[in-house]
Amino acid sequence: MKKTSTSIILKAPSEIEKMRVANSIVGEVLQELKTVLAAGMTTLDLDRIAAEGIEKRGGSPAFRGYRGYPATLCVSINNEIVHGIPDPKRVVAEGDVVSMDLGAIYDGFYGDSAISVIVGGKGTETARRLLHVTETALYKGIEYARPKHRLQDISAAVQSWVEGNGFSVVRQFVGHGIGRSLHEPPEVPNFGRRGRGPILKVGMVLAIEPMVTVGSPEVKVLSDGWTAVTADGSLAAHFEHTVAITKKGPYILSKVN
Ligand code: MF3
Ligand code: CO
Repeated sequence: MKKTSTSIILKAPSEIEKMRVANSIVGEVLQELKTVLAAGMTTLDLDRIAAEGIEKRGGSPAFRGYRGYPATLCVSINNEIVHGIPDPKRVVAEGDVVSMDLGAIYDGFYGDSAISVIVGGKGTETARRLLHVTETALYKGIEYARPKHRLQDISAAVQSWVEGNGFSVVRQFVGHGIGRSLHEPPEVPNFGRRGRGPILKVGMVLAIEPMVTVGSPEVKVLSDGWTAVTADGSLAAHFEHTVAITKKGPYILSKVN
């Protein structure tokens, strides 16, 4: 039997244009969040700003209601890796590593992107290095999002850069195809071997999202059913872009200029 669950949906140029709009909404709102983020704000304050920013630009929140997720934004602080739920009692402090993951729908298509930011900009040496290594890992992966490469070329580039810098890649969560759904095939792991996996083709759109920890890569999910934290309590960071594969190479749809 033909496996349909693993078939990768190719997008036409007109669909990629809609995805560019969805993702530019996400990218712009994340930049706005980065600008306003300050010690003393709550994670729910950030969620409200995210929801307003998406709606003002003609999109709608993608995460709210997805598998019962209760908010627009995921805000994950320090040892939290991903899927932190906004909370009116959770206050961010100077030096915290705040990871913000945002999704929007525009004209039936999804945008998905994430950034990690240090509150007040300074933070510890380790925090600054973690953010640099994680963001650079994303761009190292994106370099391989080109026709004729293999999917795990992306994975291997991320993993070797992260581990070469002494940090770990999370394995329990992965990137994904994206389009008319938030999650489509294929899975895009942040670990793997060069030359393996499906051959990349023009029209594929991938959400590439390295999640990196300072210590062990083991993950625990808190009793809220969502918040994923490092098992050893070490710091974590997360960067994500939605990237279309074009004949000229990677086209970062969630990048803001
Ligand atoms: N970027 C994350 C992902 O692709 C965001 C999902 S949050 C959820 O899994 F609430 F929508 F699940
Ligand atoms: Co994603």
